[in-house]
Amino acid sequence: MKLSLVKPSVEYKESFLAALQEFQKEGLPWVMDIDPDQLSRDFEDFVAKENSKMTLWTEAPPVPQTELWAVLDKEYVGRIAIRHQLNDDLKIMGGHIGYDTRPSFRGRGIASSMLAQALPIARSLGISEALLTCNDTNVPSIRIIEKCGGELRERKPQSPNGPMKRYYWIQL
Ligand SMILES: CC(C)(COP(=O)(O)OP(=O)(O)OC[C@H]1O[C@@H](n2cnc3c(N)ncnc32)[C@H](O)[C@@H]1OP(=O)(O)O)[C@@H](O)C(=O)NCCC(=O)NCCS
Repeated sequence: MKLSLVKPSVEYKESFLAALQEFQKEGLPWVMDIDPDQLSRDFEDFVAKENSKMTLWTEAPPVPQTELWAVLDKEYVGRIAIRHQLNDDLKIMGGHIGYDTRPSFRGRGIASSMLAQALPIARSLGISEALLTCNDTNVPSIRIIEKCGGELRERKPQSPNGPMKRYYWIQL
């Protein structure tokens, strides 16, 4: 499998929109607010924003984020985000690195390859130790992080009634 991590580009518009439809169908929380028709109209602007992204989805002061798309045979199959620093929200949920694989491409090693390729990039951004958080029930994600050398340092609820989370650190 020749999976590449690339900068977001209008070149992948069609497969990105198809992936969005799949993510929304499964209810992936962080894409549910996106209106696909509007996104299709404003795709160039969206790509520009993806390429200069800040973590505006947290309440804590935003930090810069490098967003990379995973491409297989010229098709968008997933994304991985590297946050250059942690803020108070990212320490609880999100960490330095987050990823999603397009549902119809899962179980083929895509997220494993995305994370393995993103780690040297994170290092080049000045991160010497990366925090990765995931739900205690997210078996594939736990496997991916542990394969990449993640050391489990904490396991605790995200908030008093929130889901149980795992906090892994990877030395870069
Ligand atoms: C978690 C997620 C990114 C995994 O993506 P993926 O591309 O399917 O992952 P991979 O194919 O690299 O699989 C990783 C490992 O998990 C295993 N795995 C995959 N699906 C599994 C499942 N449903 N149950 C158990 N193990 C599973 C694979 O066998 C593989 O282990 P292996 O290398 O020992 O064979 C994907 O399910 C996803 O996008 N989920 C929604 C968003 C999300 O949870 N993001 C991560 C937040 S921390």
